[in-house]
Amino acid sequence: MPEPILALEDVVAVYGFSRVLQGVSLAVERGRIVALLGRNGAGKTATLRSVMGLVDVQSGRIGFDGVELRGMPTFEIAQRGIGYVPDDRRIFPELSVERNLALGARHSQRGGYWNLDTIYQLFPPLRAYRTRRGAVLSGGEQKMLAISRALMGNPKLLMLDEPSEGLSPLILSGLVEAIQKVGAEGMTILIADQNLKFARRLAQYAYIVENGIIRHHGTMQELMQDSETVRKYLAV
Ligand SMILES: Nc1ncnc2c1ncn2[C@@H]1O[C@H](COP(=O)(O)OP(=O)(O)O)[C@@H](O)[C@H]1O
Ligand SMILES: [Mg+2]
Repeated sequence: MPEPILALEDVVAVYGFSRVLQGVSLAVERGRIVALLGRNGAGKTATLRSVMGLVDVQSGRIGFDGVELRGMPTFEIAQRGIGYVPDDRRIFPELSVERNLALGARHSQRGGYWNLDTIYQLFPPLRAYRTRRGAVLSGGEQKMLAISRALMGNPKLLMLDEPSEGLSPLILSGLVEAIQKVGAEGMTILIADQNLKFARRLAQYAYIVENGIIRHHGTMQELMQDSETVRKYLAV
């Protein structure tokens, strides 16, 4: 088995007095697209936030590219090569699309495939809107911009939180194709999403979290044949 670029072992995390992760273990191999699935409130966001040092991790290990991330400040975790796109997408609404993208490259010393040209090839609408303020973009376009901004830093790992949320089927199809292209360029991607129909088109491997614990993991193909598990943990 190839060395995973990200490995969580028994991660316990708390929000105030409540234990939101009860010992999460998962691994993401280089070059793969991995899905973290689970219903609303299951612990997907908390898992990504633990990796980024944004929640209080009480015990466990978070190994990334040969180093332990636990206790490291968020900016350093980002600098080490994790591009994180939170579920609220958080672009700069008053800045132009192009300025938003430039800021994504600001702290990165890494060169790589992703730059303004390759981003505009990936998401042509961003080129058309490059001088407009982020605020005037549609929800789908803002999502593209948030993902693109993370790509501009040429991270080693891209983590997307709930990318499918609130998008129409047509926009979703476009997003699937774009993320597939990003994966085909060699990016390692961890996608947290509750939408199995979306995630199954992207991920080769899937973890299911429920109540802060990983309840299932296996290839996406296995999961799609396991209707019992899908019903138990994912059906709405
Ligand atoms: N800011 C917060 N303070 C306290 N509890 C929270 C907070 N955000 C989320 N939670 C709780 O943490 C648990 C996991 O939430 P989360 O990781 O956001 O789930 P998911 O992303 O899978 O929908 C849920 O029980 C949720 O209610
Ligand atoms: Mg979430």
